[in-house]
Amino acid sequence: MEDLEALERDLLAAVAGAEDRDALEAVRVLALGKKGEITSRLKGLAEISPDARKATAQILNRLKDRLGQEIATRAEALAETALSARLAAEKIDVTLPARPEAEGRIHPVSHVVEEIVEIFAAMGFVVAQGPDIEDDFHNFTALNIPPEHPARQMHDTFYLPAQADGRRPLLRTHTSPVQIRSMQAAPPPYRLIAPGRTFRCDSDQTHTPMFHQVEGLVIARDIHMGHLKGVLRDFARAFFEIDGLKMRFRPSYFPFTEPSAEVDIGCRRRGDEIKIGEGDDWLEIAGCGMVHPKVLRHVGLDPDEWQGFAFGMGIDRVAMLKYGIPDLRDMFEPDLQWLQKFGFRPYDAPSLGRGLGR
Ligand code: DAH
Repeated sequence: MEDLEALERDLLAAVAGAEDRDALEAVRVLALGKKGEITSRLKGLAEISPDARKATAQILNRLKDRLGQEIATRAEALAETALSARLAAEKIDVTLPARPEAEGRIHPVSHVVEEIVEIFAAMGFVVAQGPDIEDDFHNFTALNIPPEHPARQMHDTFYLPAQADGRRPLLRTHTSPVQIRSMQAAPPPYRLIAPGRTFRCDSDQTHTPMFHQVEGLVIARDIHMGHLKGVLRDFARAFFEIDGLKMRFRPSYFPFTEPSAEVDIGCRRRGDEIKIGEGDDWLEIAGCGMVHPKVLRHVGLDPDEWQGFAFGMGIDRVAMLKYGIPDLRDMFEPDLQWLQKFGFRPYDAPSLGRGLGR
């Protein structure tokens, strides 16, 4: 009997001392498992004298029940402690400010699109969109580039397989088709910009098969070239954040505008380096002009009543100029180190009031 009391004391102490679930399980196996202390003693009852058997059986069964309960209680306590420890370890202070070293970066093209939208929105422009996959009419014909027009060759168009009706969809070669779609979708006046992806079969240090443009279109009853010059001048000064940035308009040719011009800003070149806003050199940043009467007629507008201007600008190009990005092709490589260097923090949203760039 004494030996059973000692056993009870030892086993209860072992349960109380078990530090985790595994240790507790080990104690249970030791006492109540198939070959455990109590189990084997219960099995051994057959061998002891019938007088002692009943009392011993009672004691052993009581011990077995008690131990079972103690183990269950201890298991519950251990589970609770483990849960509290885990909750403490995984605690998140949601009131902490966002970490400045957050890994993600906004691609410079996305950031520059936001800058451009911000500037034009302040001038009352809205953002329009069109599909990347275009048809011949919107990408060319409606823009006064009929079949056989030499400008078609200059566009190095990616064509898709012909459809059942024989027409071949294409990847838009410029954002100008959004002019056509916007004018078809709603009555004038229009004051819109259309940033987006464009595609040409061309690849070298300054050309990638996919690139970005932003199109501008303003049509109303009394729009003239002075408005065009003012809008682009204000845009360039805001975008490059240079007051008094010099700008000039050079006569040029585009099928969809008449007259047409190319827009240069003042810069200084030293070797490969370009410094905007200084020096006596010029750098082209956009094409523009007064929308051709034929384009207006293609969308059912009377050129005697409605007129305005359009412009087109390479987004990647102005992004490279503004942020000193040397190679266009790097823009579209999945290179995280490049993105760490040239990308923008997610919370640095451009704003005219708080600043556009870095
Ligand atoms: N679509 C022309 C291009 O991709 C750019 C352009 C020039 C757009 C003059 C215009 C414009 O709207 O008026 O080269």
